[in-house]
Amino acid sequence: MNIVLGVSGGIAAYKAPELVRRLRDAGADVRVILTPNAARFVSPLSLAAVSNHGVIVEQWGDAGHGGVDHIELARWAELLFIAPATANVIAKLTAGIADDALTTYALAHRAELVIAPAMNTFMLAHPTVQQNIETLRARGAGIIEPVNGLLACGEEGAGKMPDVPLLVEHIRGHFASRDLDGKSVLVTAGPTREPLDPVRYLSNRSSGKMGYALAEAARRRGANVTLVTGPTALPAPAGVALTRVTTAAEMHAAVLAAAPHHQIVIKAAAVADFAAANVADQKIKKSESSDELTLRLVKNPDILADVARVSPRPFIVAFAAETEAVEEQARAKLQRKGADLIVANDVADRTIGFDSDQNEALVIAKDGEVTRLAKAGKLAIANRVLDIVVGRLAR
Ligand code: PMT
Repeated sequence: MNIVLGVSGGIAAYKAPELVRRLRDAGADVRVILTPNAARFVSPLSLAAVSNHGVIVEQWGDAGHGGVDHIELARWAELLFIAPATANVIAKLTAGIADDALTTYALAHRAELVIAPAMNTFMLAHPTVQQNIETLRARGAGIIEPVNGLLACGEEGAGKMPDVPLLVEHIRGHFASRDLDGKSVLVTAGPTREPLDPVRYLSNRSSGKMGYALAEAARRRGANVTLVTGPTALPAPAGVALTRVTTAAEMHAAVLAAAPHHQIVIKAAAVADFAAANVADQKIKKSESSDELTLRLVKNPDILADVARVSPRPFIVAFAAETEAVEEQARAKLQRKGADLIVANDVADRTIGFDSDQNEALVIAKDGEVTRLAKAGKLAIANRVLDIVVGRLAR
């Protein structure tokens, strides 16, 4: 894979040499373009040493790399990856401004673009920045979402560039084989919300990240993907047919309507097992006479069990969120739900599973074969799960 790595001027630029090294370890040939501001954070010389190529900084005048060499580079590149992408460079990409080597190259670049925005939390939340990111996403750019953490400015919040192994995993995904070409994959993601009254609901901590990563990985591998999602804060993934639902009953209807047209169904959603027997028309009031409130709940439909009865029956991947006896519980669930595979995660571990960027799982097939997936980013886990699905479909 031929990658042009663009580095713009944020503190995360210090990760660029490590990023180049890891991308090369993954088999990439990497040419680096630095903005002049990035060159204040990271030395062109280090990047030249780790990439084994000259580094472009000046728009005009780097010996042998100025002017029309952008065109030559664009013929060679399979991906432009900008990490970190500052608010400034994102704005220039959106508007087509070409006032340095990187943004000039970006206009000549013809293949895929992926950016890893990184900046102060409030800058990231600024409507202009958000609008620019959405514009790039709508044009087909891949966006590696910034993560929460302590930022260089001392503030805590979203805006941090993910660690290098996670970035590399994303990039690997862009070069994944198209082994799902011609297949239709239905993925469910996120929580469901079961209303109690007009302002309250029962739900869970699912962020949707696992399901969205599966949808993204399947799309990159060539599948036609339908994503049925409960309420999440995640942006709509590009190139995926999206159906938004709120309750388990709505998810049931959407999944059952779509399932007959899909060869693979992956149920990563955390569906509420129960809903209120009666949803109050008005806000439930505190009673003066009692310190207790009793809610009557009724079981929601088991979506997976109904998908297993669909004709033609798709290949079914269930998930199991367990807090104890993970393997045992997951095996029982696999049987009960009539799935082909179950992906079990230990949700008692707060570093994985619900609302984490990482996961770790045990994949159990209905013939009893077990595969352990070590802790990794959710996109990496998604790709490992799909590897197993593809392997099983080929048997
Ligand atoms: O969304 P994230 O923050 O990224 O977190 C990911 C995750 C922890 C939610 C995900 O990895 C996961 O484990 N998803 C399944 C959660 C869950 O509801 O597990 P369960 O053991 O309760 O259900 C087992 C399976 O039955 C699941 O595939 C579920 O989608 C399905 N189910 C459950 C209830 C129901 N009424 N119908 C269903 O189809």
